[in-house]
Amino acid sequence: MSSNSNDRRIIEVEMPLTKISEHSAREKSIRHGHLSTLHIWWARRPLAACRAAIFAALVPQPEDPKEAKKMQNFIASLADWDNSIDNNSPTSAKGIHHYIKDARAYIKKAFPDRAPRVLDPFSGGGAIPLEAMRLGCETYAFDLNPVAHIIQLATLVYPQKYAHRPGTHGDKPGATLIGDVQRWSAWVLDRAREEVGNLYPRDDSGANAVAYLWARTVSCPRPDCAVPVPLIRQTWLARKPGRMSAYKIEASGPGSDIRYTVIGPVKSASDFDFDPSVGSTRGGTAVCPCCGTPLSENHIVSEAQAGRMNDQMVAVVWESENGKLYRSVRPEERNAFQEAKKRLQQLEESYDPLSGELPPVPDEQMPPQGTLGFRVQRYGIDNWGKLFNPRQALVLATFSRWVRAANAEITREVADVEYAKAVSTYLALTFDRLINRCSVACTWHNGAKYELVNHVFARQAIPMVWDYPEVNPFNASSGGWEGAEEWITRYIEYGAATAKQPADVRRGSATKLPFEDGFFDAVITDPPYYDNVPYSDLSDFFYVWLRRTVGDLYPTVLGTPLTPKEQEITQDPSKNKSKADFERMLGSAFAETARVLREDGICVVVYAHKAISAWETLVAALLNAGLTVDGSWPFSTEMANRLRGQNSAALASSIFLVCRKRKVDAGIGIAGDVRTAIEANVRERLDQFWAAGLRGADFFISAIGPATAAFSRYDSVRDLRGNEITVSTLLEWVQQTVADYALSRVFSSTTQEQGDAGKGLGIVDDETRFYVLWRWTYDHVVSVVGATGENGNGSKKKTGPLPQLPEAEVAGDDDAEGAEAVSAGAKADKKKKIPFGDAHLMATALGADINSLIHRFQILEGKSDVLLLSAADRAERIADFGERRADGSRPPLIDVLHRCELLWSANMSDELADYLSEFASDEREALRRVAQALIDVLPRGDLEKQRLEGFLYSGVAQQGSDGTPRPGATVQQGLGDEFGTSGKVIRDKRKGYGRR
Ligand SMILES: C[S@@+](CC[C@H](N)C(=O)[O-])C[C@H]1O[C@@H](n2cnc3c(N)ncnc32)[C@H](O)[C@@H]1O
Ligand SMILES: [Zn+2]
Repeated sequence: MSSNSNDRRIIEVEMPLTKISEHSAREKSIRHGHLSTLHIWWARRPLAACRAAIFAALVPQPEDPKEAKKMQNFIASLADWDNSIDNNSPTSAKGIHHYIKDARAYIKKAFPDRAPRVLDPFSGGGAIPLEAMRLGCETYAFDLNPVAHIIQLATLVYPQKYAHRPGTHGDKPGATLIGDVQRWSAWVLDRAREEVGNLYPRDDSGANAVAYLWARTVSCPRPDCAVPVPLIRQTWLARKPGRMSAYKIEASGPGSDIRYTVIGPVKSASDFDFDPSVGSTRGGTAVCPCCGTPLSENHIVSEAQAGRMNDQMVAVVWESENGKLYRSVRPEERNAFQEAKKRLQQLEESYDPLSGELPPVPDEQMPPQGTLGFRVQRYGIDNWGKLFNPRQALVLATFSRWVRAANAEITREVADVEYAKAVSTYLALTFDRLINRCSVACTWHNGAKYELVNHVFARQAIPMVWDYPEVNPFNASSGGWEGAEEWITRYIEYGAATAKQPADVRRGSATKLPFEDGFFDAVITDPPYYDNVPYSDLSDFFYVWLRRTVGDLYPTVLGTPLTPKEQEITQDPSKNKSKADFERMLGSAFAETARVLREDGICVVVYAHKAISAWETLVAALLNAGLTVDGSWPFSTEMANRLRGQNSAALASSIFLVCRKRKVDAGIGIAGDVRTAIEANVRERLDQFWAAGLRGADFFISAIGPATAAFSRYDSVRDLRGNEITVSTLLEWVQQTVADYALSRVFSSTTQEQGDAGKGLGIVDDETRFYVLWRWTYDHVVSVVGATGENGNGSKKKTGPLPQLPEAEVAGDDDAEGAEAVSAGAKADKKKKIPFGDAHLMATALGADINSLIHRFQILEGKSDVLLLSAADRAERIADFGERRADGSRPPLIDVLHRCELLWSANMSDELADYLSEFASDEREALRRVAQALIDVLPRGDLEKQRLEGFLYSGVAQQGSDGTPRPGATVQQGLGDEFGTSGKVIRDKRKGYGRR
């Protein structure tokens, strides 16, 4: 419910979550024109979700239910990438559509006098402002980080400002700017090629090297060997079936030369007489290929720190008409590298520190060892220039000098300083794309479909790479300058067509916004989240080079040696920023947000974490800042099973929190009354969420908004003793309401009688309810995208197979590995780790004790994160598992059920029948209902579900109390090894299971 109930926006009432999630996930594989191809920014939000959220935050919810439904469908289509630019051409594949025009018209109707003013105070890579502009808003982008600021200028200002600049390149939006970027990019390339092109020798036919593969080396500790030992994880070059290549490492005894011979292409792995998956390293250690002496981690680290880590070229990737080819290194290629080394040395010696110029290769210090996400300092890579080998350093210094030099020439030609600056900025971003592929922190991707150089930031970190590829920047097929330029101009084309009006882009700290009170109609933003991404440290990788390419054009923005750290909102012990500091700074940014927001304004905060326990601080901070949470929508914005998401419940989702300015209109609330009101408020919404297909953790999250809205109307809420009810207690109430609701829905489906939920639950103990609720919460949703139908029988929407991407198209923001890993990851272990705080909250909501669940009942294990234990694990850990207690009372139903499950899967049907006969018929009925509830809750393919179905539907579970199995009882065979083992547990324990 909105705090201004007569002005309810769509986002405060409902959202087409499934569709938005689908579009958001799909967007990750779209490259052409997507802003992520202009420049990497970490943790970018998908445009689909941003667009939908901005639109729904500005447009009122239609009163008429039919209109409201139509609007939901409209938003679902609006979020589609394919609809992000209107199409008036009847000949195009999708035909005419104008969702954007329509969206603007809806917004105009809501804001008839002027376009709504929208601010994103943490705009990073610019996704939110881009979408606000697209929808016709007066858009303001703000961020502390200078690299983000320059990306935003190139995304939100230059393409739109110069979209219709007259010129000789045509009339399409952006044509002149694109033409000039291309022309000057070629100018830079030609000059660089002239100077350093010969350092990448072509072969006799004129073909080019795409990349060289390198291995780092440290010397063998055995004194009579002492060879440079290569550190190689594996020697695969290409793994495409039918076209496999790898190199073989050979040596002939201590002190001998090591040879690297490329073999392939061959049809299959068995055609190699060696195993390419075995290199010379294992973890942090290695083995000398000449003498077999092991190299300890300490040895490697100390050699590296002493500056004695070198590298060796081991293979060459070659361009051919049929794609990439691989071959062994030729002498002239080693010589060319030696030549580059010599020339770098000359360049460095000719540098005059008194010239006022920066050194040609960055020597700025990297953040200290131990900084989040940085793994390289330990190996002696302690300044930013050391992330490039000598040839890379020389060649990049050359390119950067020509990018800088281009500006004077462009200005002379176009006689417009600002425009020349824009063109130069795109050259600098082309250069940034190049360095992201030309560093010793790159990795070689050899997937089942293609090979390419992964850029440095495939993860939000700078990893230490032992065997790295070195791209030839002059190659036209992969990772070179020309490819980089193409990505840049594709975005310009797209950006120019997005909006007519550029955004207002400024740099500063969100804790002190340069806007007057009540200036904005909406603030839509995605703030930093604790220690998730070390933005300023990571962005220094680019920053130090931007100073060298366009530093003169941005004397203030690029004035400091490194990106500013002090005002950055982050949690980072290496910078003396604690969790509390983070929360304090974020709190003051929220206070500023509230200040610049109109009284009737709306604010949407994207929150990256699913852990329910982490909400307390956020909600409290918003309330303190004078905002209230009004709605909370979970979007799955990632593709299923991406790198980090696999075993974590905090996967894949962004929560969009809808906030309004807090209006306290209800004085002091009495806890009991407020709670009742909140429950009623939340229950009403839960019906809606349930009908919309929300399940699991998303369900809890969606309830937080409506509950907080009701709570924050009060000046304060107090119990009968006058103690103030905190946000933490509020969240407990929410959890309890949601748990009750979910369990009664789950159990009501196990009986014919509707409304029987309460009765059914009465005989189900807390531990069992906890187990069922856990499985429902964390294991219900099979695929990240799309909700499952009720009881798992409804319309299950799975992420479709990824479209096969042409190579260049994966080379954007994300790593190719992630994209290729999708199908394999689908079978990922689903044992999810859940933060202890969340488990605690769930237990409390059900009146169970978390410590007993861990220690006594062995349902969970773990400390800061907890895991659910399987039936077999539990049987192994608990003595007299599933037995009646000494006082004759029944053990938790889940123990009984788990024991039945194990007996069943071990084919011990007689024992199972005997065991069941110990329970009275109402107990067996309860057991049946729990089994049915779990079957309903668990996804198809879940092993426990299969076993329970076998057990329940065979008839054994329903046999009479005399222990006679029903005639239909058959024992399910061959469910697999796991059950064989668990059967053994039961069998071994059988003697101890004596009959009473
Ligand atoms: C989660 S990111 C935003 C990402 C963005 N929504 C996108 O799609 O690219 C958070 C941003 O907050 C910025 N930031 C950190 N501290 C800040 C501060 N004090 N003021 C303004 N921005 C800050 C970071 O530089 C980072 O770009
Ligand atoms: Zn050796």
